[in-house]
Amino acid sequence: MLPSSLFSRTSTLSLLFLVPSILAQSIPGATFYGGGGSGTNYSLVDNYTPSNFFSKFNFYSSYDPTYGHVQYVDYNTAASNGYISSSANSVRLMVDTTNKYPRGGKGRPSVRIISDNTYTHGLFLLDLNHMPFGCGTWPAFWLLGPNWPSNGEIDIIEGVNTNTANLMSLHSSPNCTIAGSGQSGTLEQSNCDTSQNGNSGCGTKADTTAVPNNYGAGLNSIGGGVYATEWTSNYIKFWFFPRTAIPASITAGTPNLTEFGLPMANAQGSCNLDSHFANHSIIINTDFCGAYAGNTYGSDTDCPQNATAGSSLNSCVDFVGNNPQNFTQAYWSINSIKVFQIAAAAVLSASMSSSISSVVPVASSASVSD
Ligand SMILES: *[C@@H]1O[C@H](CO)[C@@H](O)[C@H](O)[C@H]1NC(C)=O
Ligand SMILES: *[C@@H]1O[C@H](CO)[C@@H](O)[C@H](O)[C@H]1NC(C)=O
Ligand SMILES: *[C@@H]1O[C@H](CO)[C@@H](O)[C@H](O)[C@H]1NC(C)=O
Ligand SMILES: *[C@@H]1O[C@H](CO)[C@@H](O)[C@H](O)[C@H]1NC(C)=O
Ligand SMILES: *[C@@H]1O[C@H](CO)[C@@H](O)[C@H](O)[C@H]1NC(C)=O
Ligand SMILES: *[C@@H]1O[C@H](CO)[C@@H](O)[C@H](O)[C@H]1NC(C)=O
Repeated sequence: MLPSSLFSRTSTLSLLFLVPSILAQSIPGATFYGGGGSGTNYSLVDNYTPSNFFSKFNFYSSYDPTYGHVQYVDYNTAASNGYISSSANSVRLMVDTTNKYPRGGKGRPSVRIISDNTYTHGLFLLDLNHMPFGCGTWPAFWLLGPNWPSNGEIDIIEGVNTNTANLMSLHSSPNCTIAGSGQSGTLEQSNCDTSQNGNSGCGTKADTTAVPNNYGAGLNSIGGGVYATEWTSNYIKFWFFPRTAIPASITAGTPNLTEFGLPMANAQGSCNLDSHFANHSIIINTDFCGAYAGNTYGSDTDCPQNATAGSSLNSCVDFVGNNPQNFTQAYWSINSIKVFQIAAAAVLSASMSSSISSVVPVASSASVSD
């Protein structure tokens, strides 16, 4: 079972998540990539690099649906305050590290970005150097479909406070049960239905013995690496490759799944994945406290507690609000996100009856949203 703390991600999320998920799907000019659901021949369809990165995301700047002590800001605010930046090799997503935001007032400024383009199936490669961690933080790199929970949620990187193991999980509409396994063993929770178990979803924490440094301070200490997520009609698998052990085929730009080895988690079971997961946007955010980090903060003995605050959440908010200097490590540094897909069956049959070049327009539409 998941730690009891996870059950605090209550079903109140179910209504409020509708807001960002609708926004995620209404971007004029964005491209939908509906890849094939099985096979091994992956081609690059979308490529997020430092030079195009921020033009391929929209900035969610409304209230936090998970009650964090956070203010998500728009692009102009993020750029002018230095919360986002790019260099030749990477982009950064940071938070405010200079001002106090005491309990009762507005939360600490941060960003929550949602990709314009959407995807069904694919191999998602996130190459990152650094991720947020520490007391009060709740970072996430995830995929989300429209009309939550009808089209599902795939949480690739998620954790809170001083966690050292990454939590990978799926959240879905009813009748999706996962029995898969991987290096982390049997999944800790098998029912992905958001209306069950307080929306803790189905998934598992990474095994830090099998795959050390897969989250937070540990990940940052080794210069990160590549998170790989393969989503097919039959399974959703998660890997983390530390910087010094990235498969050569990934570095070469032609990922060969047979060289990836045992995944950290393999979600596969009596779930029709295609009827529960579709049309996902990529989301990256750094939240503070809220439904997950806030409610578990009080049980994290390494985090400063306010004995008179009255609750775990208040203690978290007091630390986040009053200590800007403690959030200098709460940033993402990302080199790239690459999305590979197998040509969809319809496109493949078209290519057989005409020429192989009919496959190409699908891939080349990657540039549409730039
Ligand atoms: C889930 O399965 C149950 C039992 O088979 C069925 O009654 C119900 O209609 C299903 N719900 C959905 C949303 O498919
Ligand atoms: C993928 O890797 C396997 C195992 O090393 C190898 O046999 C196969 O030829 C590779 N496929 C490609 C397309 O390079
Ligand atoms: C996914 O997007 C495509 C293209 O816009 C659309 O045709 C399809 O109905 C969408 N599917 C879902 C489940 O939203
Ligand atoms: C601790 O909580 C008390 C009571 O809510 C509050 O007055 C005080 O400012 C908090 N202390 C810190 C350091 O945030
Ligand atoms: C917060 O920062 C101070 C120094 O500014 C440091 O002494 C303290 O250990 C930090 N606390 C946490 C929980 O990171
Ligand atoms: C792999 O897919 C690409 C693009 O869809 C296609 O051009 C190529 O012929 C395919 N290769 C094989 C071996 O099927």
